[in-house]
Amino acid sequence: MSNRKVTYQHTIEYEVVNTSNLFHPSNWALLSTGKIEDARRFVVVDAGVEKHHAKAIRDYFAHHHVEAKIVAFPGGEENKTLDHYLALARELDSFPIHRRDEPIIAIGGGVLTDLVGFVAASYRRGVPYIKVPTTLMGYVDASIGIKTGFNFNGNKNRLGSFHAPQQVILDKAFLKTLPRRHILNGVCEIVKLAVIKDAPLFDLLEAHGAQSVNEHFQNEKGAVLLDRSITGMLEELEPNLFEEDLARKVDFGHTFSYGLETRHEAHLLHGEAVLLDILLSTLVARGRNLLTDNETRRIFRLTDSLGFELDASILDPGLLLASLTERTYHRNGLQRVPMPHGIGGCIFLNDIRADEIESAVEILQEWTTINHEII
Ligand SMILES: NC(=O)c1ccc[n+]([C@@H]2O[C@H](COP(=O)([O-])OP(=O)(O)OC[C@H]3O[C@@H](n4cnc5c(N)ncnc54)[C@H](O)[C@@H]3O)[C@@H](O)[C@H]2O)c1
Repeated sequence: MSNRKVTYQHTIEYEVVNTSNLFHPSNWALLSTGKIEDARRFVVVDAGVEKHHAKAIRDYFAHHHVEAKIVAFPGGEENKTLDHYLALARELDSFPIHRRDEPIIAIGGGVLTDLVGFVAASYRRGVPYIKVPTTLMGYVDASIGIKTGFNFNGNKNRLGSFHAPQQVILDKAFLKTLPRRHILNGVCEIVKLAVIKDAPLFDLLEAHGAQSVNEHFQNEKGAVLLDRSITGMLEELEPNLFEEDLARKVDFGHTFSYGLETRHEAHLLHGEAVLLDILLSTLVARGRNLLTDNETRRIFRLTDSLGFELDASILDPGLLLASLTERTYHRNGLQRVPMPHGIGGCIFLNDIRADEIESAVEILQEWTTINHEII
């Protein structure tokens, strides 16, 4: 046979839908894809959610005569492991589902949807799945894209895949029971988006962010903030779902945070690491006149007003530089660090130096511990 080129194109399509009262028997959202006659569903639910909704979930599937295997999964980064991946795969394998019309249902935070997403991506070489985010991090970020995975060999998300969900179902009522620390964790991704691409979102956060945090985003302005964040996030993700372009605005705050999260996994949440990175990057940007003093002050004041408690003592310039080197490798040899250019603007830097990182760390540590007036 002579050489032959094989080409195949595959369209990715999934819906991000808003709903309320997800487990009410009259709500069809969870069963709107896949078959419903003589049907089965493998459902993985975050234990923090199951605690509040176990009966409602069981009753929902029973009402619709769908045989459901409901598995409770403990959230938390420490559970995003190979062992948990294997345990879920075993549970799934003991409850055979059709390959094409009985989607797996993942209801939980980013850890759960990433892990179950990878189970779905790898089981029988890929079965459909639906994501229902129950944390703010999941709601505005982890659930709406197509990345799956788990931590491996001391590295975050080292094993994973791109596997699009069939549907993402948003019900913000889940946020009511989310602990405040995890609400703030998700807010960091909203701050990220506001600083790097959406000045009106930044204004909204200044005006209504604190109240929305206090009300777990159940208030009217909280809903506006959520909608605008998701719209902005999807605008960035959709044209680059498979990250062919490695210069991504949504990587703002995700360069130095990588090393921080890896070293301090036990007590630093993803968003908390991202926020430290955002503030360091803000200072590097000011040093290069990409942000004015006033813009820098607004970013710092916003984080203050939202009620974050920052621990800048963990900022070790050596670790941050190592993280930059690792991310440079991940981004194919160029730093490609997104930096704010004015609030709402972005440029990519490829020449961040160690001395800029050291100086940013010094200022941030002084700001958090001694002197709020230095910025
Ligand atoms: N795939 C992506 O594109 C993407 C994007 C951003 C973040 N992530 C990943 O997301 C993960 C972090 O996600 P997370 O912050 O949601 O953490 P998480 O999934 O660990 O959830 C946080 C905590 O909240 C609990 N919980 C979940 N929903 C609840 C609810 N409604 N009420 C009460 N408690 C609830 C969980 O049990 C857990 O203890 C990280 O591993 C990160 O890598 C992935």
